[in-house]
Amino acid sequence: MIQSTNLFQLFCFVSIVLFLFVSSQDDCTYRSYTLIKYDQLKSCLSSVEDDDLNREKVVNTTLGVLEQYAFLETNRDSGSPFNIQVDLRAELLKINATKHDSDFEMHNSINKLLSSLHDPHTMYIKPYCYSLLYIMNPFTIKVTPNEITTLNPIVTISGSNFNNSSVFVSEYLKLTGIDVEPYFGKQIQEIDGMDAWDYIVQEATPNWISKDLSARINEYITHDFSAIPLAYGGIPSSSTFKLKIEDKEIDFEYFGFSVHNQTNTTHFREECYSGIKSYNKKKRNFKNTNLKLEQDRVKYPHLEKRKLHNLISENSPFNSIIEKTGISEEESKINIIYPKESEIEFSVYTTTYPVIGTVDYGIIRIYSFSLQDEAGYEGFKNMIEKSYDYMYENCIRYLILDLRDNGGGSIDLGYQLFYYIFENQKEKLTPKIGNYDLIHSKLHDELFEKCADNDKCYNDKSIPTTPKYWYDKDENQFETIDWYSPGKKYSRGGVEQSYSNLFHENVDLSWENKNKLFFDQEHLILLSDGICGSTCAVFSSKIFQNNLANTVTIGGDADMKNKASLISFPGGQVFDNDIFQLFESYYLYHYDITLENMFDEYPSDQSLSFTWREIYPMDKDPTGENPTPTEFIFYPSDHRINTWDFDNDELIMNKTVYYFPMEPIPSPCPYPSPSPSPTNEKIIAKSKQVKSMEFKLFVSAIVLIALIVFVVVIVWGLKYNHNSKMKTTHQLVFDIDEENEDGFGFELESSSDNFENQEEKILNKKTTNKQNQLLDEENK
Ligand SMILES: *[C@@H]1O[C@H](CO)[C@@H](O)[C@H](O)[C@H]1NC(C)=O
Ligand SMILES: *[C@@H]1O[C@H](CO)[C@@H](O)[C@H](O)[C@H]1NC(C)=O
Ligand SMILES: *[C@@H]1O[C@H](CO)[C@@H](O)[C@H](O)[C@H]1NC(C)=O
Ligand SMILES: *[C@@H]1O[C@H](CO)[C@@H](O)[C@H](O)[C@H]1NC(C)=O
Ligand SMILES: *[C@@H]1O[C@H](CO)[C@@H](O)[C@H](O)[C@H]1NC(C)=O
Ligand SMILES: *[C@@H]1O[C@H](CO)[C@@H](O)[C@H](O)[C@H]1NC(C)=O
Ligand SMILES: *[C@@H]1O[C@H](CO)[C@@H](O)[C@H](O)[C@H]1NC(C)=O
Repeated sequence: MIQSTNLFQLFCFVSIVLFLFVSSQDDCTYRSYTLIKYDQLKSCLSSVEDDDLNREKVVNTTLGVLEQYAFLETNRDSGSPFNIQVDLRAELLKINATKHDSDFEMHNSINKLLSSLHDPHTMYIKPYCYSLLYIMNPFTIKVTPNEITTLNPIVTISGSNFNNSSVFVSEYLKLTGIDVEPYFGKQIQEIDGMDAWDYIVQEATPNWISKDLSARINEYITHDFSAIPLAYGGIPSSSTFKLKIEDKEIDFEYFGFSVHNQTNTTHFREECYSGIKSYNKKKRNFKNTNLKLEQDRVKYPHLEKRKLHNLISENSPFNSIIEKTGISEEESKINIIYPKESEIEFSVYTTTYPVIGTVDYGIIRIYSFSLQDEAGYEGFKNMIEKSYDYMYENCIRYLILDLRDNGGGSIDLGYQLFYYIFENQKEKLTPKIGNYDLIHSKLHDELFEKCADNDKCYNDKSIPTTPKYWYDKDENQFETIDWYSPGKKYSRGGVEQSYSNLFHENVDLSWENKNKLFFDQEHLILLSDGICGSTCAVFSSKIFQNNLANTVTIGGDADMKNKASLISFPGGQVFDNDIFQLFESYYLYHYDITLENMFDEYPSDQSLSFTWREIYPMDKDPTGENPTPTEFIFYPSDHRINTWDFDNDELIMNKTVYYFPMEPIPSPCPYPSPSPSPTNEKIIAKSKQVKSMEFKLFVSAIVLIALIVFVVVIVWGLKYNHNSKMKTTHQLVFDIDEENEDGFGFELESSSDNFENQEEKILNKKTTNKQNQLLDEENK
């Protein structure tokens, strides 16, 4: 008896201790920039249950937003070659009707659904409590062709995701008990029992980045293999994965990573349901007159950068382990002439051929079309002009436009650059700017009709809801709602649906190619890894459609006989839920217009972007019953390069120049110099010696023109000071800027970015309105 009482007491004691121990272990306690155990993260994620009412709200808003999605109907059945067959409305209702294992899984089912469209403009970003998290494996990989046989390419561990590998290695060892260092540089034979390359292809297939498998494979190798942002990805079902290396099978653990601190489960749950206050970009109190947008505005931290963090630093030291290409330094080399600035880098690849001699190839790498640094638009233009001046002065006859991993940016910049490079085509090409249209929806009807009927709104050319914002194919500004309705009826995805008329924005095409240096198709190559999206895709497709360059892609599908797409997701223009919410408040404050058909706000801080207008091919104006938007056309590159070694520029250029169709002509070229460049300093110096009369006349004319332009600009600027602010399209900007330390991936920006300027103005105006009201009230 005594014994059993003692045992009972012991049992109680142990239970209490265990209980205290267990309850102090909160799975949702984690620190930023540290490694989190997979099991802990998984259990934290499952601690937030899928709430019926919350799910219904999320689905309702998603449905409401997607009514404005340009490809809503087309995606039901896109037909060949991409054969997208997704009925978004029906699938979302299914999600609403399903109880998920957790709130995370519910959001993730929306991500999965949207991924199946392979349209990365159309993207759901989970609430921030999840979006600030990643799931990762300890390795990055490098893939090289199998030169000996026709077998699958060779997959090798290139290092870790983290800047300082030695710190990472020891952190990972502490977390999992596995030392990964000995595996760096080793070939992976199998992953989870499957040939390594086949595994890559399998995992890449559902990737959202592109409608073309080749681009998806490239994206998977460079990014998603080693780090999945939970913003749009899910977590693997098992905590480990098996690699076969040197004929031995080894289990490795996935781990979690966060860019913010979390305190406890209660707090985590609260943040998931209602948004993270410090990150919340959406739940602004528009009535708060002291609102500081600058602080409030948030970049998507989880998507800011592709390469990883400073947990730990320096680039992988293991590159040297992997054999270089066998091109001797003397034979060929790349000289960076103007290092990366304003998203442009200019280099010259010089190679010596046995008989012909030395040939120079210019390489303009365009990292993106977004204007992130202070120099902005002028900086971009300046870099292009400098590069062209250099090529002109050094008589470089071949140009490679390197568009690898370019996720787009400002569409204006895309068109400007196009007509700089092809100024000699300016009068020949129709249409000059792409034709676009919009899908009809109740909310669109209301936005555009109410604006056209309201004097103030009608004349406010800063907003894309007024007819005056848009131009027809003959460059006439629209005057009435007929830009939108009655519009046109097309049969898409088996459904008859109406769309707006064709229209485009007004784009400044005034850049001048001062050297008149033009590269024809035989002297120009577009180089891409298939992940050239949005503005990059519009820019490249215009070149492709008009046959103005040779096109080369690298990597992708291992069977080089298959064609690979030059571009991904041309889309047209991207908008998101916030922009519409902003329209709503803008309408209310400025025009006293209320909107009946507006969708509800999301319950938390998730967001949804989508292709708002769709662009058509630019070799002719669209005709016929049912023209196909560029998004659904396959643009295969002329040539493919058999390498996945994306960082090895020398190898890539070596293989790229092979595709200039002409026998190379050595530099310097034997032709007499074309007419002098006015931007060239030497020439400006020379022109100073020109007879003074002529010179003075010339200068006066310039000054006069400049004055007129100045006055026009000022007047224009004063009148329509935000006219051009919203013309940027395209959200996905692949930021490979090493300086940025807050995250990785790509950045959702541009359209919203630009709209945010707009938004700031709105808020400022609102502030003034409110202040005036308050003053009025005080005066009463
Ligand atoms: C969701 O939408 C349906 C249909 O429009 C509506 O009946 C329902 O009340 C909405 N639910 C919520 C939670 O907003
Ligand atoms: C969503 O699901 C709930 C049940 O969880 C149901 O009551 C509701 O009608 C559904 N809403 C819609 C719009 O189908
Ligand atoms: C998280 O907490 C640690 C320690 O309190 C702090 O050093 C770090 O800056 C915090 N991280 C963030 C992103 O706030
Ligand atoms: C959880 O964290 C929040 C925010 O840091 C804090 O206010 C709250 O007291 C914590 N709750 C528990 C049970 O520790
Ligand atoms: C890697 O570390 C170096 C040196 O600390 C730093 O300059 C660089 O920005 C880091 N790169 C990344 C990708 O974090
Ligand atoms: C990496 O981290 C270790 C340990 O903190 C440090 O000794 C080493 O200098 C770092 N390397 C670089 C390149 O920053
Ligand atoms: C390219 O590399 C190969 C070796 O892989 C070399 O033989 C050839 O000379 C190089 N070609 C050029 C143009 O540099």
